[in-house]
Amino acid sequence: MISKNTIDQVYETARVEEVIGDFVGLKKSGTNFKGLSPFTQERSPSFMVSPVKQIWKDFSSGKGGNVVAFLMEHEHFSYPEAIRYLAKKYNVEIEETEQTDAEKEKLNERESMFLVAEHANSYFKETLWEASEGKAIGLTYFKERGFTDETIKKFDLGYSPQEKDAFSKTALKNGFQLDFLEKTGLTIVNESYQVDRFRGRVMFPIKSLSGRVVGFGGRILGDNKKTAKYLNSPESEIYHKSKVLYGIYEAKQSIAKEDVCYLVEGYTDVIQMVQSGVTNVVSSSGTALTELQIRLIQRLTQNIVVLFDGDAAGLRASLRGIDMILAQGMNVKVCSFPEGEDPDSFAKKNSQEAIELFFKENAKDFIQFKASLLLEDAANDPVKKAATIRDIVESISKIPDPIQQEVYVQSCAQQMEISENVLFSALAQLTKKAQSNARKTAPKEESFRVVKNETPQNIALDHTFELERQIITILMLYGDREETFKDSILSFSEDEDILEEITEVKAKVFEKIFLDLQQDEVELANANFKTLFYLLIQHFQVEGQIAIDKLIPTLDGELSSLVSNILMNEDQYQLHDWEKKNIFVKSRDSQVPQLVNETILTLRKLLIDKKIEELQSQVQDKELHHAEILEEVMSYYQLKQVVAKKLNRVI
Ligand code: CTP
Ligand code: MN
Repeated sequence: MISKNTIDQVYETARVEEVIGDFVGLKKSGTNFKGLSPFTQERSPSFMVSPVKQIWKDFSSGKGGNVVAFLMEHEHFSYPEAIRYLAKKYNVEIEETEQTDAEKEKLNERESMFLVAEHANSYFKETLWEASEGKAIGLTYFKERGFTDETIKKFDLGYSPQEKDAFSKTALKNGFQLDFLEKTGLTIVNESYQVDRFRGRVMFPIKSLSGRVVGFGGRILGDNKKTAKYLNSPESEIYHKSKVLYGIYEAKQSIAKEDVCYLVEGYTDVIQMVQSGVTNVVSSSGTALTELQIRLIQRLTQNIVVLFDGDAAGLRASLRGIDMILAQGMNVKVCSFPEGEDPDSFAKKNSQEAIELFFKENAKDFIQFKASLLLEDAANDPVKKAATIRDIVESISKIPDPIQQEVYVQSCAQQMEISENVLFSALAQLTKKAQSNARKTAPKEESFRVVKNETPQNIALDHTFELERQIITILMLYGDREETFKDSILSFSEDEDILEEITEVKAKVFEKIFLDLQQDEVELANANFKTLFYLLIQHFQVEGQIAIDKLIPTLDGELSSLVSNILMNEDQYQLHDWEKKNIFVKSRDSQVPQLVNETILTLRKLLIDKKIEELQSQVQDKELHHAEILEEVMSYYQLKQVVAKKLNRVI
């Protein structure tokens, strides 16, 4: 079976308007999207998709439901098939469920593995600083590379002795189980023997964002061509290479503060740069950058500078990976070093000021850099030049922000001496193609880009209106009900996973809504809704239930028509018996607590977005409290993540 976790994740990422958009031509209409029914032959569109409610409704056939229901109706998928389809489209890894006991064991297993890794880290450090072999070989090596004591300590560098099982033996003696030594990759276990993976190497512990050791890189001493220069811990339950960046724990504060992250290739590049005083630097450790790694950086800053070694070959090979950074909506610059230099050697020779000045003068905007580089290659070769142009446009097409795209089109047109129109039409072609393919990396709001003449603010306003209307609707329809509300309390665990604790509260719907909004100090923005809200709350407090006949006469014209509109609309809504078809629609009676939670959480998310936007514009206005504001922005981002996670639970 597909795990609940996977299903949750699928629901969290899938956007009904995007999924349906692959099958039905949709146009924005108010807060909804409209199109021709895919189930009937019709001329005028009666097929509606609501991005707010994440449901669709086909007025000509009466069908409707959520994203999964659409795939089941349209593609005749079974439920699991639909989930698998979405997982594939959104690049969600499918996890099959296991026995609960096994799951529990896995959790314990992870914990035990963390302990083993921590123990190994202490052992390697102790060996480096205390043991004569460590001091003579390991410490000497680091000193020769120019690392100071302070640096070696900061990065918790260590040494693993040459004896074949020095570490394993000690760990076993200290009560650690062989099983976990093997699972973390520290010990290689065979039928007849067990050996240390990293024997005779200097050790670089790899840490999670929160500073827990998850794996190691071990370097041989000197330049022995026969064995691999670096050995790394194998992928394990605690070490997912695609999710980790070397140096992120040490760099995170500085990345947020400087609002830029330097990306280098290797362990020693990071360490040498940090030692020179450039502390906002991380490394993907020799492998191609992954989307998850970019997201990790994106939690701290939107700006990234990729630093390349002096050799041109590696540089060209890396260009493609950078498109992915663009696709995440980040601002990317690249900077290459003088021939023969890498960040390590360059940082070793130069002071912090000189390094920063060098970056300032040499970091180029990625698209422009790529354009100039490729043009150089294609000089005087029209065929090559055409390919180059397509290549650049491809990069531009990855940028989620259409305004930024336009700016690039203009500057590249100039640079490449080609008309803007040609670039625009090439871009349009690519965008169209991308839209019909999976949009796995695009931010969720992307679907709104379909609408050219609508600014994000307008969308946000509409969204707020819709949500406030929903709150009033819920109050009117279900306000007096007593329901059991499940709330999850979320927190971050040490290795940055989100922990969840479920609580249950019994309350009347109106009390719950009132208290939740009060807790957030939320006032409804729309004046009518606001008045109505307080009237309704008061009404419930006095009457204990809704008495429409008593309520309507107390309302003035505008408010009373609003109320009757809402009531009428909901009637129409309930005509379609979706539940019978096993289609889950969030605004059903039986789902009131979920509906309440979802509405409030969505509103909260919207408010957080607004707050972030506000803060970000402050950052632009005044340089003064830059750092504090950024910190605040970061905590809002984290809050937003929690809210999003909670929202995803509400299904
Ligand atoms: N790497 C690896 N395995 C290798 C070679 C490299 O995992 N056999 C990774 C390491 O993370 C390394 C990075 O790729 O830091 C960059 O490789 P390279 O430039 O060769 O390493 P440096 O960090 O420059 O190593 P050193 O200066 O110690 O020779
Ligand atoms: Mn090097």
